[in-house]
Amino acid sequence: MQLVVLLVLAIGAALGVTKLVRSYIRLAGIPGPWLAAHTDLWRFRAQNSQGYAGRLVLLHRQHGKLLRIGPNHVTVSDPNAVSIVYSMNPVWRKGPSYYGATTVSQGRVLPSIIAMEEAQHTAVRRTVGRAFATTSLLDYESYIDHSAAEFVRVVGKLQSADIGLWLQFFAMDVLMRIGFSETPGFMQKGGDVDGILGAVIDRFDHWGRWGAMPTMDYVLNKGPLASMLKGKTDSPLARVGAAKFHARKTALNPPDLADLCQKFLEGRAKHPDALNHDEILGIILSTIGAGADTTAGTLTYTLFFLAKHPHCREKLQAEIDAGLQDGTLSNPPKWGEVYKLPYLEAVLKESMRIFPIASWGLDRIVPEGGVTLAGTFIPPGTVVACQIDAIHRDTEVYGLDSEDFRPERWIEADEEQKRRMDRAFLAFSSGKRVCTGVHIAWLEMKKTLPLIMMNFNLELVDPKQDISKGIRASAVKYPPPVWVKIVKRQDGPVPS
Ligand code: HEM
Repeated sequence: MQLVVLLVLAIGAALGVTKLVRSYIRLAGIPGPWLAAHTDLWRFRAQNSQGYAGRLVLLHRQHGKLLRIGPNHVTVSDPNAVSIVYSMNPVWRKGPSYYGATTVSQGRVLPSIIAMEEAQHTAVRRTVGRAFATTSLLDYESYIDHSAAEFVRVVGKLQSADIGLWLQFFAMDVLMRIGFSETPGFMQKGGDVDGILGAVIDRFDHWGRWGAMPTMDYVLNKGPLASMLKGKTDSPLARVGAAKFHARKTALNPPDLADLCQKFLEGRAKHPDALNHDEILGIILSTIGAGADTTAGTLTYTLFFLAKHPHCREKLQAEIDAGLQDGTLSNPPKWGEVYKLPYLEAVLKESMRIFPIASWGLDRIVPEGGVTLAGTFIPPGTVVACQIDAIHRDTEVYGLDSEDFRPERWIEADEEQKRRMDRAFLAFSSGKRVCTGVHIAWLEMKKTLPLIMMNFNLELVDPKQDISKGIRASAVKYPPPVWVKIVKRQDGPVPS
């Protein structure tokens, strides 16, 4: 009997070792940290440590354009790989790390756009894609204006504030209004309401924590065993959203509203077989979750950069003030007035180039036949991601000063160079799964940044603050508190 047990154990161990060796050999030519080639624990640990993105940039510099960060996981820092990995035809499937972005409410995994399989994603685009197109942007302007006036009123009463926190409240109000035409009032309260913002943050933190270990995530957090042990938890955002959604879909007379909820219900009425009501609700909620802290964080980094680079701030201020003086800009600014302001766009792009908010990997699975990237063959089934931060610092694309914040690079570049810079710009990802809310994000940021500059002068409370030191480990690069002194501009016009 003992002999049989020993034999079984020996066979098990031999099979385990063979599997490890085979998995190692598959990508043996690709360099990286030794431990990462053998276990996902390296990535699990690294992702949960501060400065993960910066570490990947350094590792790429050390090892080259391909870096093995897991037994089956490779990151690429070659700008030429972007159009291949995020190609429209064929579309590469998303990697397993996106499972971390799903949330569980009442024991069910909520449908989420970011983690969807391609077929379902195509159905979403067909049904509700119109809600995210540029033609819908004007429908959302009044929601932003409403929140903008409130921002100026509330923040204007403060002498100093953690501006990032107020931008989080602002962005939540904006997204709730775009989603449902109303908000529980984050700015009004000056805090989270019913744990909704907390749930948005938790989702990104959870994704950051578990992205490298989807199977463990299922077993420990989302599967039936976890449900049994932990009980059925509730997502506050899902609770509030479900109530609003239910009221809307059962209303006798559809209200005359142009928010996402209404647009999605109209889309479903046209394509009743594509998505059920549950999926529609999940999509609204995941949109709110995906859009609030990403925009707030990006605006926070941008204000920080402007405070650190006074000559850039003065240049942007001059662009805005000139518009105010010659009547081509109003307060709050309208989309039609700001979307083409060249320096405004350059500042925002430069800020997203240096601190792209996504810390999660844009993971994709290499399709049948494999692929050659940066001169090396990568077998099918490997998870590959273009590493945003490393590509954004590529000196051949962005210049020898790619480490510096210099918005002018976006203006000085000739057409060909600009095309190369845009193609390598991954702040919103690329290809079919590019950020669904990219146009809404531009709308919100291009309206909000000038609004703040029209109305306030912001100075860092600690002019020596180094923001890169405090970025929190999560799926997004959550900035540390950025305390600013707030001085209302005497010459700034009063918001209408
Ligand atoms: C500065 C602001 C924003 C940035 C930098 C940003 C960035 C991104 C990135 C990098 C992705 C990942 C795509 C991928 O996995 O390859 C994404 C996905 C997504 N974003 Fe954004 N985002 C922003 C704002 C928004 C806003 C305002 C909304 C909604 C109104 C939104 C909704 C979404 C959705 C629904 C997805 C999932 C897309 C998919 O998987 O097909 N985002 N975003």
